[in-house]
Amino acid sequence: MKRVLVTGAGGFIGHHLVSYLKKKGEWVRGADLKYPEYEPSAADDFALLDLRRWENCLKATDGIDEVYALAADMGGMGFISAHHAEILRNNSLINIHTIDAARENGAKRYLYTSSACVYPEYRQTDPNVTPLKEEDAYPAQPQDAYGWEKLVTEHLCIHYREDYGLETRIVRFHNIFGPLGTWDGGREKAPAALCRKVSLARLNGQSEIEIWGDGEQTRSFCYIDDCLEGIYRLMRSDYREPLNLGQDRLVTINQLADIVAAAAGVSITKKHVAGPQGVRGRNSDNTRLREVLHWEPEITLEEGLRRTYLWIDQQVRAADRRIASGSSGTLENPSSAVRRGSAS
Ligand code: NAD
Ligand code: GDD
Repeated sequence: MKRVLVTGAGGFIGHHLVSYLKKKGEWVRGADLKYPEYEPSAADDFALLDLRRWENCLKATDGIDEVYALAADMGGMGFISAHHAEILRNNSLINIHTIDAARENGAKRYLYTSSACVYPEYRQTDPNVTPLKEEDAYPAQPQDAYGWEKLVTEHLCIHYREDYGLETRIVRFHNIFGPLGTWDGGREKAPAALCRKVSLARLNGQSEIEIWGDGEQTRSFCYIDDCLEGIYRLMRSDYREPLNLGQDRLVTINQLADIVAAAAGVSITKKHVAGPQGVRGRNSDNTRLREVLHWEPEITLEEGLRRTYLWIDQQVRAADRRIASGSSGTLENPSSAVRRGSAS
C-alpha cells in the first residue's frame, strides 16, 4: 500500500488534507510540531517532530512514497510582515531538510506548497490588478522574506527533480480559507479575522469593526475544499512547473467584510485603521490551472464564508463562555483576546 506523509498536518490545510487523503483510501502519516487544535487527526500515524532538524525529517519520511510538504512558519499579513528573519530561517531549514530526507529515503513524489506571495511587488500596485500568470514571478521581487523563501524552495524542487529524479510538484496558493483554520492570535488571515470581528461585534451588540487600511486593497480567496481537490489533482498530474491554485474573483477587503456581515445576518460599519496591508492588489490567472487540471475552484466566496463564519462564530461563543465561567484567561488563550476585542 502506498504510504503518504503530510507535513504541517497539525495546521489548517494539512489537517484537512489528511482527512481528504484518508477518504481516498491512502495510508497517511502526519508530522508537525503540534496536534491539530480543533479536532483529532485522521492520520494512521502522527509524529510530533520539529522538521527544522534533518534527523527528524529522516524519521518523518521513513518508508514514505509520497510527501505533501505543508509545514511552515506562516500566517496572514500581521505575521509575515513582522517576522522576516524567523520566517526565512525556519522555513529554509524545514524545506531543505524535508526534501533532502525524502530523497535519502527514496520517496517518489513530492508536492511543495508555495504561495502567491512569490509574485513581484511591482505587478501588484493597483487594486484593479492584472491577474497573475505563473511566469509573472520573474524578474523576481517578492514583497516579504516569506515570498523569497518560497521562491528559492520552488527552485530547490525543480533541481531535485532534474538532478535526483524526485518527481516534484509545486502549487502556489492564493489565500485559502475555511473552518478549522487559525482565527485568532495574530496569524489569522483576512477572512478569518473579519469573521471573528463580525461575530464579536454581534455578541457585544455593536456594529463597528476595524479594517486595516482603507479596505480598497484587493485579493481573491479560495475555499479549503477546492484547495484540497486542486492539490490532489496536481499531485496525480504529470505537470512539473509551479501552478496557481486559487479563485480568480477579485474583491476589495471592504466587500469581503460585507459578505461576512451578510453571512452573519447583520449590518456593519467599518472603521479603517492603520495595519499591515501587503500588496495593493492580487488576483490569480487560472488559465494554466484549467489547462493542466481540467478543473477550477467551484465554491463561491459567499458559500465558503457562510460555512467559515458559522464555525468561527461557534469558536467565539465557546471562548466567551469559557471566560464567563472563569476557566481561562492567559494571554496565550485566544478567548482572552476575544473578550478584549483587540486581537488582530
Ligand atoms: P498553518 O500555519 O495552519 O500550518 C502550518 C503548520 O506547519 C502548522 O501546524 C505548524 O505547527 C507547522 N510547523 C511550523 N513549523 C514547523 C516545524 N519546525 N516542524 C514541524 N511543523 C512545523 O498554515 P496553512 O494555512 O495550513 O498553510 C499550509 C502551507 O500552505 C504552508 O506551507 C503555507 O506557507 C502554504 N500557504 C498557505 C496559504 C493560505 O492561504 N493558507 C497561502 C499560501 C501558501
Ligand atoms: N489578517 C488581516 N486581519 N488582514 C486584514 C485585516 C485584519 O483584521 N483587516 C484588513 N486586512 C487586509 C490586510 O491589510 C491585507 O491587505 C488583506 O486584508 C489580506 O490580508 P491577509 O489575508 O492577512 O494576507 P494576504 O492576502 O496579503 O496574504 C496571505 O495570503 C498569501 C497567499 O495569497 C497570507 O496568508 C500569506 O501568508 C499567503 O501566502
